[in-house]
Amino acid sequence: MKSKKTVTALFGLGAACALLLAGCSSSPSGSASTTPASTPTSATSTPSASSSTPPPATIGTPFAAGATIGISLPQKTSTNWVQAGQYFTTGFQAAGFQSVVEFADSGVTEQQQQIEAMIQQGVKVLVIGAVDGSQLGTQLADAKSAGIPVIAYDRMLTNTPDIDAYVSFDNCQIGNMQGQALLRGLAASQGSSPWNIEVFSGSPDDSNSTPFYQCAMQVLQPKIDDGTLKVPSGQTSQQQTATQGWLASNAQTRMDSLMSGYYGNGTKINGVLSPNDPLARAILASVEAAGQADPVVTGMDAEDLTIQSIAAGQQYQTIDKDPTLDTTEVIQMVQAIQQGQPITFNAYQNNGDHDVPSYLLTPIEVTQANVCTALPAGSDAANTAAATDFCKSQG
Ligand code: BGC
Repeated sequence: MKSKKTVTALFGLGAACALLLAGCSSSPSGSASTTPASTPTSATSTPSASSSTPPPATIGTPFAAGATIGISLPQKTSTNWVQAGQYFTTGFQAAGFQSVVEFADSGVTEQQQQIEAMIQQGVKVLVIGAVDGSQLGTQLADAKSAGIPVIAYDRMLTNTPDIDAYVSFDNCQIGNMQGQALLRGLAASQGSSPWNIEVFSGSPDDSNSTPFYQCAMQVLQPKIDDGTLKVPSGQTSQQQTATQGWLASNAQTRMDSLMSGYYGNGTKINGVLSPNDPLARAILASVEAAGQADPVVTGMDAEDLTIQSIAAGQQYQTIDKDPTLDTTEVIQMVQAIQQGQPITFNAYQNNGDHDVPSYLLTPIEVTQANVCTALPAGSDAANTAAATDFCKSQG
């Protein structure tokens, strides 16, 4: 397993950014790994910083095999959520549970209602991928009163005491990887610096957007400061660069206006920090519509269309967070809760209220250099890569 530092995320605590970044100095290797992230060594948002690995712990009380588990997921803004829904359905069934999987397609209110209905229905564990992890306090308190353990999936549930565990990939490592990939890609294909870039960040209501953005900017800001990178729009804050709702249409609209506002008269766009694949494809479409060559663009989620784009030499990079891995981890936790067995964690993540025992998996960086070999064998992404002309030509 690679040695690296992970981070205790500091949701909504801008002043604590320096602490966040201090714990966020891992460097990507680009190699395939599905091993869990290592123990965090960073400070937390509280004065009593935690640097230890959580001890194995039991959660809740054992319950009957075959009981129903409630899984509440956000809008399908990227294919990982759709895949997670499928893997939870089939995985819980294979493990002998009933499950109810619901997507909050219309947003926070719908998710609040779905979770309340699951509590009324008597689910034994709640697994929540939040639309907005700060808006579920009442529902989580109700779950606590009903004795229902809560596992936050992919996105943290913030500023609440009523969360038992968090399962995700290492979001700060992802931001680091994106920042470093952008620099690497620029050096490889865009001649000598300075390079013109633009920055995009995720939806402000998603707690993941902050570590993605901050940990990418940890890499990029020094290069902006020393003049290696130019940002012609001047838009670099998380607020200025946000993509509300993670909607590709919002990213495309913003990129269209950046192209017309700042990239006329022969100003070339060399690179774009994009936090995920749907946004990256929208950004590339916008640049192509403006008549410029593809810039170096980062991404995340290893979506099929993006794997094809990377193999074809268009999008520069993505990050694979195989949903079979984190959904399997959640299902194993639920099995342990059902049987009263201790659960193993490998990190603490602060949710603004306390350090939450967490299990963080290691993301895999993917570029054209490793697209044919780095993805987990048999995964959707690996099968998609294998079917491309590029990978066929590589043997
Ligand atoms: C997830 C990403 C995803 C984004 C938009 C984030 O919370 O971590 O994998 O691309 O939501 O759906």
